[in-house]
Amino acid sequence: MSDEQDFSQKLEAAVRNPKNLGEMEGADAVGTVGSVDCGDMLRMWVKFRDEGGKRVIDRATFQTFGCETAIAVASVATELIAGKTPEEALQMGSEELSAPLGPLPPVKIHCAQLVEGALRSALDPDSAPVGNEPISPTLLESFQNRDAKPKQIRLESQK
Ligand code: FES
Repeated sequence: MSDEQDFSQKLEAAVRNPKNLGEMEGADAVGTVGSVDCGDMLRMWVKFRDEGGKRVIDRATFQTFGCETAIAVASVATELIAGKTPEEALQMGSEELSAPLGPLPPVKIHCAQLVEGALRSALDPDSAPVGNEPISPTLLESFQNRDAKPKQIRLESQK
């Protein structure tokens, strides 16, 4: 099976049954990013727990106005980061966060970078892409009100 077919199958499976989809009540951190390139948006909520005196990610959820790849990557990424410290999660780039889907087609790499951006925005707002606009209460409001923009990220194209 080619990488492309393998990716398509994994993408379909992840989109058909996305994990950790939806807003999280009582989240400890939230990060929202919008792509200035494709116009899509993604918000991620994170809840921490104490594990032996260490703060680790208990769970993370997401909402997105993004493509299927963004949904699939956010789904696998929220599973991958559970149990990690924020520092460990921040070490993970878009490639690692999307690894369970296999190599992404070059035109879809920016979708994984959107997920990475939302995670960074939630875990370490200072390291997240520039922008300090207030975050709208819901992702839909952010999407509808483009003047109250969440953090915008310029997605790097594949070299
Ligand atoms: Fe915009 Fe995939 S095309 S996130």
